[in-house]
Amino acid sequence: MKIRDSIAFVTGSNRGIGKSYVTALLNHGAKKVYAGMRDVGAFSTIAADWPEEHRGKVEPVALDITHEEQIQSAVAQAGDVDLLINNAGIAHFTGLISAGNLESARQEMEVNYFGTLRITRAFAPVLKKNGGGALVNVLTVASLGNFPVLGSYSASKAALHSQTQGVRAELAAQGTRVFGVFPGPIETDMAKDFDMEKSPPDDIAEGTLKAMERGEEDIFIDPMAVQFRKDYFDDPKALEKQLSEFLPVAHS
Ligand SMILES: NC(=O)c1ccc[n+]([C@@H]2O[C@H](COP(=O)([O-])OP(=O)(O)OC[C@H]3O[C@@H](n4cnc5c(N)ncnc54)[C@H](OP(=O)(O)O)[C@@H]3O)[C@@H](O)[C@H]2O)c1
Repeated sequence: MKIRDSIAFVTGSNRGIGKSYVTALLNHGAKKVYAGMRDVGAFSTIAADWPEEHRGKVEPVALDITHEEQIQSAVAQAGDVDLLINNAGIAHFTGLISAGNLESARQEMEVNYFGTLRITRAFAPVLKKNGGGALVNVLTVASLGNFPVLGSYSASKAALHSQTQGVRAELAAQGTRVFGVFPGPIETDMAKDFDMEKSPPDDIAEGTLKAMERGEEDIFIDPMAVQFRKDYFDDPKALEKQLSEFLPVAHS
């Protein structure tokens, strides 16, 4: 998969890993990048952090991935896309049992699972029309093993991992390559309350594009993710036991 001259769309590109994806795409020679964000009013401030010589290649797109009308407008605006990066996501630090109600679990499924599926369905014909292209889903190591402190988030991202596999199979016939990225803890707003060693978001973005260029479908970049993959494939049950120590606050 070649990034140079691609026309990319990144969801949740106003901060965190999404913002780093825009930088990395520009540095890898993307022809154009559509920057999906809920608040396009902040675009000029955000754009100041992207490489000056390429900034003109970035076009803001108003997009909440749970909002069907905005999704249809985004498809109409970005009909030339051949690389979709499904990065937008949310995480509540809630357990599956200790959370008071189902609200946070529902929100996570609505954004992380259904929101991503809506975008993928909407852009699948666009990717097909533009030669197949590629799709990236930003998963997490928690897609493979449940961290009880983030129990409902982990479940939503496990569902997204399964979605990624199914979408990969369904889109193969139209020539769309489907990639999944499994980061460990990353230095962004999402993980600010997570007391673990974290990797920079630029490493994930850069590492994703390099892995895509090498043709790797399942992408593990940061040191924690690389170790997690090893532990998962060596002994998934031992890993589950190890993760069971990360309990939600109410249970500790
Ligand atoms: N940080 C980590 O440790 C870590 C580890 C593994 C995987 N990930 C995954 O990496 C991705 C990016 O996370 P991050 O760490 O960069 O988090 P972040 O800093 O909290 O950024 C989340 C991004 O998603 C956007 N977003 C949330 N809900 C949305 C919606 N309904 N529609 C459109 N955009 C929405 C946010 O937009 P607003 O600014 O409008 O809220 C923001 O741009 C997520 O999928 C996350 O699960 C993160």
